[in-house]
Amino acid sequence: EKSGYDTFMEKEINDQPHAVADTLLGRTDAEGNLTLDELHIDVEELRAVTKIVIVACGTAAYAGMVAKYAIEHWTRIPVEVELAHEFRYRDPVIDERTLVVSISQSGETMDTLMAVRHAKELGARTVSICNTHGSTIPRESDAVLYTHAGPEIAVASTKAFLAQITASYILGLYLASLRGTSYGRDAAEVMAELQGIPAQIETVLAGMDRVKEIAYYMADSRSVLFLGRHVGYPVAMEGALKLKELAYIHAEGFAAGELKHGPIALIEPGQPVFVIVPSPGSEHGLHDKVVSNIQEIRARGARTLVIAEEGDEDVVPFADEVIRVPHTSPLLAPLLTVVPLQVFALHLSTAKGLDVDQPRNLAKSVTVE
Ligand code: BG6
Repeated sequence: EKSGYDTFMEKEINDQPHAVADTLLGRTDAEGNLTLDELHIDVEELRAVTKIVIVACGTAAYAGMVAKYAIEHWTRIPVEVELAHEFRYRDPVIDERTLVVSISQSGETMDTLMAVRHAKELGARTVSICNTHGSTIPRESDAVLYTHAGPEIAVASTKAFLAQITASYILGLYLASLRGTSYGRDAAEVMAELQGIPAQIETVLAGMDRVKEIAYYMADSRSVLFLGRHVGYPVAMEGALKLKELAYIHAEGFAAGELKHGPIALIEPGQPVFVIVPSPGSEHGLHDKVVSNIQEIRARGARTLVIAEEGDEDVVPFADEVIRVPHTSPLLAPLLTVVPLQVFALHLSTAKGLDVDQPRNLAKSVTVE
């Protein structure tokens, strides 16, 4: 069942090209237009949506945070992302024109289910992005968009994360095409780029030998920090979560712009910091700003582990290690940049002799509140 891999986690990381490709499958017509008839929500209702609230827990919530950047950009609908257990117990501003999108691999996470029920009570339309057919959350939602990652066995989520981002992008592009808000690129163009992502993930996976070596010599690390900006920010938090879950190492993800407002005080000689660098082609000069951040922390002695696009030479003078990913448009980059962070956590956990598939104290699906 592990297809020759030592652990389910390693198998599932290597399954990711399929998870993305299968989630894209069958969602476009011959002309490349999105066809989401499976949603079964009235198109007029979708056109009338004034706000989207994404509710989820853990890795699924980070997929939601990534999705926010893309969905707002494409649809111009405000998107909030909230941890399901927080959403449920405050007094959220929700009405019939709010679309509440839950994201859950298992479809059984009680916190997320309670949030969906609460949203329905408040009159919202509910869509579930889910990996498990017939599970409770999609059954109780008005509509479902399944991710096709296949069964995920390892407790720490990997391929479901990529499939969740893919599915929420499909939803965002569909809403944008319904509303005619293409903002620069139309849905078919982005879908075509998404179709190329699986091959690019293969490229990333094929280059992971050095990441494994780094993980082995970092096995004694007590703390690892992760910096990212824009969509790289949730990726940084997901990278930190993987390391906590799998290797029991204190890890924290920060927005790179926040560094000077506090976290830079943590930097001391030898502190390892992963930095996810935006594409040199990113708008607003974000690439250069993050390169400056690398320079700042390096000057204070940090060990910089830099994830940067192929051909980005600006990072080289300030990087102790450069991990390369192929070029994508900025919003699609998380589908590539998270992969080395998953691989790093996997090997660090293995290097410490830990149970990669069943980390201590965790369950695959938490069915209590
Ligand atoms: C946690 C799992 O308990 O639940 C995480 O350990 C997962 O891996 C989170 O991301 C949410 O689970 P689900 O099934 O709702 O996506």
